[in-house]
Amino acid sequence: MTMHKEIIHGFSKLTEEEKRNFIALLCNESSHAGEKFEGYLMEDETERSQFLDLSENTISSFHTPYGIAPNVMVDGRVYHVPMAIEESSVVAAASHSARFWAERGGFHVTRVTTVKLGHVYFTWLGYPEYIWERWHVLKLFLLERLKKLTINMVRRGGGIISLELIDAAKTAENLFKLELKVETINSMGANFINTCLEDMAEALDLFFAVDNDPEGKKCQVAMAILSNYTPECTVTVEASSHIDHFKPISERLPVGVFADKMMLAYQIAKNDPSRAVTHNKGIMNGVDAVLMATGNDYRAAEAAAHAFAARDGQYRSLSWCSMQDDILTFGMTIPLAVGTVGGITNLHPLARLSLEILGNPTAKELMGIVASVGLATNFAAIRSLITTGIQKGHMRLHLSNILNTLNVDGTLREEAEAWFVNRKVSFNAVKHFLHERSS
Ligand code: MEV
Repeated sequence: MTMHKEIIHGFSKLTEEEKRNFIALLCNESSHAGEKFEGYLMEDETERSQFLDLSENTISSFHTPYGIAPNVMVDGRVYHVPMAIEESSVVAAASHSARFWAERGGFHVTRVTTVKLGHVYFTWLGYPEYIWERWHVLKLFLLERLKKLTINMVRRGGGIISLELIDAAKTAENLFKLELKVETINSMGANFINTCLEDMAEALDLFFAVDNDPEGKKCQVAMAILSNYTPECTVTVEASSHIDHFKPISERLPVGVFADKMMLAYQIAKNDPSRAVTHNKGIMNGVDAVLMATGNDYRAAEAAAHAFAARDGQYRSLSWCSMQDDILTFGMTIPLAVGTVGGITNLHPLARLSLEILGNPTAKELMGIVASVGLATNFAAIRSLITTGIQKGHMRLHLSNILNTLNVDGTLREEAEAWFVNRKVSFNAVKHFLHERSS
């Protein structure tokens, strides 16, 4: 097909409908594809165009299941938490685990930090001593200029926390960086931080303009950008219980054995990177789903979480488990730069409702909720792994997906569910079962 060989010019200039029709031609049944693309769009014109305007070259909207994990108790308050995720079992796991912990006091936020970072990288080709000599004056100049950009943030209780000059010669010759630390209160703050940084980059050029050698600039800005690594914007959550209370979920393992297996599972995840990655993926199943549902940047959270997991030089689990006097404690510290105002949180209609469901939390409260759900999905995964294995639960949902695909409901569905309780589920096995029943 020639369409797969030719470069398209001016795609962005086409109308939404033209783009949709053009792309539908790439699909096996173009008229059906066109209808599907259109069918997944919102009916309300204003909402639809606001939504499509969030991104570029939009032709449809990609749906993700939006579910609720009820009864997530954080610091004594119960939240029914919206989660947007396509992977089966995650919401079920979060819900079971949340309920289990809610009946045992719930999750507790033991520490929150909220400082975010950004940098202006620049090379300095003059004498290194000179830049240090001028630093005091330069810093005052930069901070003074920033005041006009930070007035509103300061009014809300945030603003600039510190500004430092750092010699980055280890990274590259003659490299320096300005490190800006900020408090952005309830907004994630990406735009705010980047605006401040770009202002500083411009100011840096201005400041050194007078000193510049006519044959070449001594000060050259490389880039100005916030850091998604936020080791000073973290939340720590914990949940604990006496080992006797694990009886209802230990799948007939004696509670002492259950507790020992838990401890071993967390020890493996701490020390073996290949297990740690999967362990942390189980945490991010819960974390990302809540971030998605509340319109937060889950890519930033993923990047930060994995860098944080490797902060001592080896990739390790983010969560831990400890035991003292037969009390088993599960905990996790995770970097989370979230917002509850501004950006998509206001623009995406479901993100707005998600925040309402959560009682319009502050960013700090949302950090606690998100981390608790992450710890809940992690706990559920490890519990399954050390008892029945994960396939049992997965297979029940897998069966449900297959039955949905084959449009099976009513009594036949119940019969299929009963038949497959202790049997291996596969698409062919289900089709075979249905065939046998109908013949
Ligand atoms: C699957 O999405 C997540 C798990 O693999 C996590 C884990 O192994 O801890 C079950």
